[in-house]
Amino acid sequence: MTPFITAYELYEKRRGIKRISTGVRALDELLGGGIETKAITELVGEFGSGKTQLCHQLSIMVQLPEDRGGLNAKALYVDTENTFRPERIMQMAKYRGLDPQELSRIFSMPGLTTVITK
Ligand SMILES: Nc1ncnc2c1ncn2[C@@H]1O[C@H](COP(=O)(O)OP(=O)(O)O)[C@@H](O)[C@H]1O
Ligand SMILES: [Mg+2]
Repeated sequence: MTPFITAYELYEKRRGIKRISTGVRALDELLGGGIETKAITELVGEFGSGKTQLCHQLSIMVQLPEDRGGLNAKALYVDTENTFRPERIMQMAKYRGLDPQELSRIFSMPGLTTVITK
């Protein structure tokens, strides 16, 4: 099987890419509409620049309907440094008008940090 695909196939594939709003209009514009699906996005910035806050925010935003910038989907939060704060998620969820029960659609793995450092 050839490892190549045609430009048309790639075009079709990329048409399936959706975007999750960051909840910050200026940042969405900078990113061409938000964070892309079907890709890994790396956030780079010094300590305290807002990387973790943005990840918390995206866990909320992805749950919103598409007309509000989300994907009506769930989030898996892989927390490698033990900075996941459901209390903060709760604040953000309330701000976006989400039922706190919606937090059941965000999955975390509390033991993960232990697994990684072992
Ligand atoms: N619960 C919170 N409410 C409001 N601001 C917060 C909260 N937690 C952290 N912050 C602020 O958000 C900023 C970015 O922090 P953070 O996202 O943890 O940065 P990073 O992950 O890039 O090191 C910091 O200035 C911090 O004080
Ligand atoms: Mg952080």
